Amino acid sequence: MRIAVFGAGYVGLVTGACFAELGHDVAVRDVVAEKIDALRRGEVPIHEEGLEDLLERNRERLRFTTGVDEAIEGAEVVYVAVGTPPTYSGDADLSAVWTVVDELPRVDRRIVFAMKSTVPVGTGRTVRHRLDERGFENVGYVSNPEFTAEGTAVRDFLHPDRIVIGAFDGADADVVERLHAGIDAPVIRCDVASAEMIKLAANAALVTRISFINEIANVCEATGADVLTVAKGIGLDRRIGSSFLRAGIGFGGSCFPKDSLALKQLAANSGYNFQLLNAVIEVNELQKRRVIGKRERRLGTLRGKKVALLGLAFKPGTDDMREAPSLVLAGRLLAVGAHVSAWDPVADGGVLLDGVEIAATALEAVDGADAAVLVTEWPELRDLDWAEAGARMRKKLIVDGRNMLDPVELRALGFEYEGIGRAVE
Ligand code: UGA
Repeated sequence: MRIAVFGAGYVGLVTGACFAELGHDVAVRDVVAEKIDALRRGEVPIHEEGLEDLLERNRERLRFTTGVDEAIEGAEVVYVAVGTPPTYSGDADLSAVWTVVDELPRVDRRIVFAMKSTVPVGTGRTVRHRLDERGFENVGYVSNPEFTAEGTAVRDFLHPDRIVIGAFDGADADVVERLHAGIDAPVIRCDVASAEMIKLAANAALVTRISFINEIANVCEATGADVLTVAKGIGLDRRIGSSFLRAGIGFGGSCFPKDSLALKQLAANSGYNFQLLNAVIEVNELQKRRVIGKRERRLGTLRGKKVALLGLAFKPGTDDMREAPSLVLAGRLLAVGAHVSAWDPVADGGVLLDGVEIAATALEAVDGADAAVLVTEWPELRDLDWAEAGARMRKKLIVDGRNMLDPVELRALGFEYEGIGRAVE
């Protein structure tokens, strides 16, 4: 089949590349000409495992363009994969979605407009009205949310837990289901509003688990229990399961913070106070800040002290800095007058980290530091020569914000090691 994908960000590129892999002809359209030029030259603007190979392998089935008409030409399905960032009010900013809806040219065949971007519940109905107002009855609307995580997006797309297709018309759902032929996964066909809610509720369930285990970790610290053991012990209960029970310094990224806020505001706009989600968000904010309090208890004032942040990206395997806990940590540390150095194997933070000294290596970052905080669980940090790191530090203090390192080993090297939710010695 022929598909147009609007938006060449993480989601758009992965969607385009994976549909090409499934044998479809795909045109990816973006408004940023430099991005399209780069893609035409075979350069991939983002760091995503396996994406480059997929784009290369399916070159013949992929076109990149800035032109709407060129993208739509012959397409049976038009995917929308543009950004929906939060506005000041916490609602999702749908302006890029509306631009695509309004730019859609009149065609004399049936096409399906498929929403991949994460949008508030009710968006599909509003888009449907707008399409009807424009006299586009031949354009069907389908909500087909994505459940791909950065770093594993290609695998998640091609081997998903489920495919969700919400439609106003069964024939449109058939078209989108056919597109996924070759993928072995249960298909949930439903109404548009439910499909939109499945996406938001899935992310809300995942962040609830993270904030839950983070609170358990905090209580573990106060009571002498160990959160890793606790997570293992509860995760083996099949009704609970073991995923998303890693305690740490909070969740970040382009989706969880934005989508939880959007669902909270969506509920509030309809007069409902989503108390559980409010607490989940609040716990996450506090979790990022707790680390600073821990340092202050150990070092007294942090003014003039050097603190090294090891890892900047919101999780390993990506250069994405959106809503990364490192940004809050750096901001707080600078605010209390600390000198902050940082290292990450791929992310650099750019202007977001103004005032932070970016080091070329992890060892350089900890040089002369009074404390180090492991922020992102990069394998490079597990394999770091910690004896050498300790020798370079002014004080051998480490907070392992992701519980990745071995406390016994580090303590044997003379470190004062503190994890999240682990017994302090
Ligand atoms: C997340 C979801 O996992 C995807 O299913 C979803 O499609 C995507 O958002 C989206 O809405 O587009 P992603 O943001 O790429 O994917 O990353 P995750 O691997 O889920 O991690 C998010 C954050 O949660 C990270 O900061 C990570 O460190 C944190 N996390 C995750 C924990 O603190 N503990 C855990 O147990 C798991």
